[in-house]
Amino acid sequence: MRTIAVTRELNAGIGNCELTFLPRSEIDFGRAQQQHQDYQSALASLGCETVVIPAPSGLADSVFIEDTALVLDDFAVMLRPGVASRRPEVAGVAEVLRQYRLLKAIEAPGTVDGGDLLRVGSTIFAGLSTRSNQSGIRQLSNIVSDYGITVETVETAKCLHLKSAVSEVAPGTLLINPDWVSSSTFAKFELIPIDEKEAHAANALRIGADVIYPSSFPRTIDKLARRGLNVVPVDLSELQKAEGAVTCCSLIFSTP
Ligand code: GLY
Repeated sequence: MRTIAVTRELNAGIGNCELTFLPRSEIDFGRAQQQHQDYQSALASLGCETVVIPAPSGLADSVFIEDTALVLDDFAVMLRPGVASRRPEVAGVAEVLRQYRLLKAIEAPGTVDGGDLLRVGSTIFAGLSTRSNQSGIRQLSNIVSDYGITVETVETAKCLHLKSAVSEVAPGTLLINPDWVSSSTFAKFELIPIDEKEAHAANALRIGADVIYPSSFPRTIDKLARRGLNVVPVDLSELQKAEGAVTCCSLIFSTP
């Protein structure tokens, strides 16, 4: 099997991105582009074949491709992002994913951002957030239930997406900010709490046995390393100003 990482070029208008929890600060576009290149190189260094979709004009947030789709083994679900400005991002991603998977879709009035979907084994935890609503989560649950996957809704009020608060760093092992999401929801898993001085540190991108992770959270990197995880640090400081993180910038899946 090959591992595909679909990414999307950075849009020159990223300075006009959506912001929900952070104040706007100037993004250095050249630096952001270099960081995005380095992120793609990190994916390639871990064996991913990167497929890069061009940036459509006018879609400031399109680099955050994770929010447009959920790719499962048998099919992909094209999502419906919670903010209207991001919905036109979906069509271009669907064009690429249809080469690999059958496509299903979330319909209005449902909304789901991929950043709210954390899959652990046969469970998808779905953040009920400013971006993902009950209709969207119910539709997703109906779509995946025929394939033995269950969806559990998780109240997500203190951060942009569920995966801002919790992500998987090894099979059944989650990195979590317990101030942003309830640890009891994930009690059956091994939990690694982030360092309390690094509130935004719970988003990690697991690629097999390795973890792509922001270099801006050194205390939490130490914790992950002490747990025996192989951390591949990337500097995403410019995309973090746009409320981006490591999972948001790619869609990862296997294909023969
Ligand atoms: N700027 C990322 C988002 O709001 O979706």
